[in-house]
Amino acid sequence: MTEMMPQMTPPTTTSPKKLFIKTYGCQMNVYDSDRMADALAPHGYAPTQDMAEADLVLLNTCHIREKASEKVFSELGRLKELQNEKRAAGSDLMIGVAGCVAQAEGEEIARRAPMVDMVFGPQAYHRLPDMLARAESQRHMHPSLKRAVVDTDFPQEDKFAHLPAARKEVTISRGLTAFLTVQEGCDKFCSFCVVPYTRGAEVSRPVEQVVGEARRLAEAGVKEITLLGQNVNAYHGVDGKGRSVGLGELAYLLAEIPGLERLRYTTSHPRDMDAALIAAHRDLDLLMPYLHLPVQSGSDRILKAMNRKHTAADYLALIDTIKAARPDMALSGDFIVGFPGETEQDFEDTLAIIRQVGYASAYSFKYSTRPGTPGAALGDQVDEAVKTERLARLQELVTSLTNQFHASMVGRTLPVLIERVGRMPGQVGGRSPYLQAVHLEGGAELIGAIHPVEIIGVSTNSLSGRLARAAAA
Ligand code: SAH
Ligand code: SF4
Ligand code: F3S
Repeated sequence: MTEMMPQMTPPTTTSPKKLFIKTYGCQMNVYDSDRMADALAPHGYAPTQDMAEADLVLLNTCHIREKASEKVFSELGRLKELQNEKRAAGSDLMIGVAGCVAQAEGEEIARRAPMVDMVFGPQAYHRLPDMLARAESQRHMHPSLKRAVVDTDFPQEDKFAHLPAARKEVTISRGLTAFLTVQEGCDKFCSFCVVPYTRGAEVSRPVEQVVGEARRLAEAGVKEITLLGQNVNAYHGVDGKGRSVGLGELAYLLAEIPGLERLRYTTSHPRDMDAALIAAHRDLDLLMPYLHLPVQSGSDRILKAMNRKHTAADYLALIDTIKAARPDMALSGDFIVGFPGETEQDFEDTLAIIRQVGYASAYSFKYSTRPGTPGAALGDQVDEAVKTERLARLQELVTSLTNQFHASMVGRTLPVLIERVGRMPGQVGGRSPYLQAVHLEGGAELIGAIHPVEIIGVSTNSLSGRLARAAAA
């Protein structure tokens, strides 16, 4: 594919066409989907929640595990039917495949699914209006002459600088909290992972771009921002003076923004938890005491084979340092079971580290062989049945730890960002610093601010509490 200048087609003023975006995968895809909607808004596309009325459907895909990738082709099968129905009724449906499967499989998707109009990777989103114009110009061609527009180039230019600034309406539709991508891509090359191939090399957005976007979000009423990156704590943005600024220093800058009350970041790599970031946790109340810090395995042998470049002991020592700086810190993690060569003993080492850290929550996955990664070439693949059994044991342990963590909140007063009216009349709901859903009796006037809430009960997925008016927050 040829490299194009990011040119924009002229905005249209005719009645809006409808855009439906289906998002798979991680929060970065959620953020990207909003940016794609922003990029298409000046070109006459308004978002819809109803796929059936869409003129354009974009699938924002995930390649992380085989199951995630397969979903794309079954969804395309369903879309083909919708496209046929629409054509029979005299209208049409354009289909675009974006995201990490598009980046990894590019032309292969265009070949396997000829009804797709566009295939483009995460680094091409700022070129979307132009791609769409090219795809639209082919709409009335004979099917044998039509070619999907494929763009999986990694650009020279700064994608974010060429995307329109986050629009208030789109961003605010998610309420008082927002995502903000600060870093993309990964240079770590864990041997199981496709991300370095689908997202490309690590790139950080400049400090002023990030602070500017955070400021606009806060001005629009956002109270809590989650900074995103595949390796968010590898962030090293350039500031106005040409200096490199890490995530810790960035947090101090964001803490100055009026109206912004909470800051989170995800996903971090243990090797990038530097002293400045840990100091920020010690100093900044707005930095939430809840850290997603995946370790993947508790076995040094497996960690080595995974190319994680740290040991279980390194990780545990790091957690101690973080907790010394911020004693109320709770942790969540990611685990892979059944990495090639994983023995029962390796797996038990993983259970042991989970117990030792006492995670508040954890995501766990069966190892999925990804084409093109070094892990795919390893012998000694673990049986599917063994993976299933280990996953169940791991999840049982994590569930019991999560329940203990929730139960330990009872009797405590937590600051809760009240976000919405509750399911029951007379109730409101929000989130604790630990992302727990909390509901309590109260009126809609509580919505939009952080209130002290005394936790009085626990159920499987939420905490119940009452407003602690007297308690100082
Ligand atoms: N950058 C993050 C992880 C991004 S992917 C980090 O380094 O921690 C999210 C999670 O998916 C990973 O933490 C890992 O647990 C899981 N994952 C990635 N590749 C996988 C694979 N091939 N099979 C199973 N799980 C995988
Ligand atoms: Fe994947 Fe490892 Fe990079 Fe995380 S650090 S995105 S797991 S390669
Ligand atoms: Fe999936 Fe790509 Fe995110 S592979 S997890 S959507 S970075």
